[in-house]
Amino acid sequence: MIDTLWLPYTQMATASPPLQVVSAEGVRITLADGRQLIDGISSWWTACHGHNHPHLRAAVAAQLEKLPHVMFSGFVHEPAQTLARRLTALLPRDEQRTLERVFFSESGSVAVEVALKIAIQYWRNRGQERHRFIAFHDGYHGDTLGALSVTDPGCGFHDAFSAYRQPQFFADLPRDAATRDAFDAMLTAHGGEIAAVIVEPRVQGAGGMRCHDAATLAEIRASCDRHDVLLIADEIMTGFGRTGTLFACESAGIAPDLICLSKALTGGTLPLAATVATDRVFAAFCSARAEDAFMHGPTYMANPLACAAANASLDLFEREPRLAQVAAIEAQMRQELEPCRALPGVVDVRMQGAIGVVQLATATAAQLRPAFVERGVWVRPFGDSVYLMPPFIIERDDLATLTAGVCEVVADWSRQHG
Ligand SMILES: Cc1ncc(COP(=O)(O)O)c(C=O)c1O
Repeated sequence: MIDTLWLPYTQMATASPPLQVVSAEGVRITLADGRQLIDGISSWWTACHGHNHPHLRAAVAAQLEKLPHVMFSGFVHEPAQTLARRLTALLPRDEQRTLERVFFSESGSVAVEVALKIAIQYWRNRGQERHRFIAFHDGYHGDTLGALSVTDPGCGFHDAFSAYRQPQFFADLPRDAATRDAFDAMLTAHGGEIAAVIVEPRVQGAGGMRCHDAATLAEIRASCDRHDVLLIADEIMTGFGRTGTLFACESAGIAPDLICLSKALTGGTLPLAATVATDRVFAAFCSARAEDAFMHGPTYMANPLACAAANASLDLFEREPRLAQVAAIEAQMRQELEPCRALPGVVDVRMQGAIGVVQLATATAAQLRPAFVERGVWVRPFGDSVYLMPPFIIERDDLATLTAGVCEVVADWSRQHG
């Protein structure tokens, strides 16, 4: 019975009943009726080591014995300190920047809110009022009001709030001379009011699974530097190996001024997010003036159980060949999804790390969801995209089941609509 539940992104009056899940292990989700589904999207891109990994479970259980939670104001604790130290050692850096200060929260959207607020206050603390952001077409940064204001209004998630949303600037990604000039002109015209540019590095996720190359990302960084504007990298989807490097920014050899992390941070175990700032950004908040302090503090920030899970997840990245697994997934998906390109109505097939996308000519992909469940796989197409983002530990045969499912379902769709 779900008559007291309100599900996300769901027209509750007409939606078919959701599937009852009883357990999950590795790449398999087990339903109450005994069926098993191979998770093709790592449970909203979180379960990078597979579900219910014994090392993560043990770390959370051990932490549960000691300290399930304590408020994070006036107190700190070892799991958060260790995690902050380990994260900052791993995060992308360049000649000018290292990301050194970690502010924890509990969801990706809040990590973005925190980044936007830090950017605004950074300038205010330095005597400038800058309240606007530049974001990119097809970008998605979350569903809270600040995050949705920097999400492409065309994404369709947030139409009900258009009158309420803060007006921001939206640019095309600077991929060629014309878009580079347009982006630069936007920064020239409005630089004095822009607190930061926000981007999902290398792959824009929920806005349509669009990829861009490392040169485009490097161009964004260079433009921000030229115009003295902060750069926020939203690596909530791309972080922790998903695009082929541990963080997508690495592929362009750049570091942002602020980075947002969540999703795979705890390996899909518990809610946790982090906004990490450079020392330069952090320094603007340190002064003799109380009002320069950052006034934000989620009640469950740095929850010790979630931090323990995240530390255990980092152990697995150290001990197991996750990036090699991502490369193998990319190669297999490239081979096995490529035939979809020839189907009428398919406009693109693309891969970036362990993300494989088949793009349809129409934004009707969500209708294909039941066909995947019938084939024993959990794939959740949306907009015009049918995509896979499997757990990195997936075996070849299971991945082949997923790619075969995508090819069959898209071929059926193509026969009817292509
Ligand atoms: C790039 C990006 N930013 C932010 C978010 C929001 O994260 P959450 O759903 O945890 O609030 C998402 C979620 O899909 C995302 O992909």
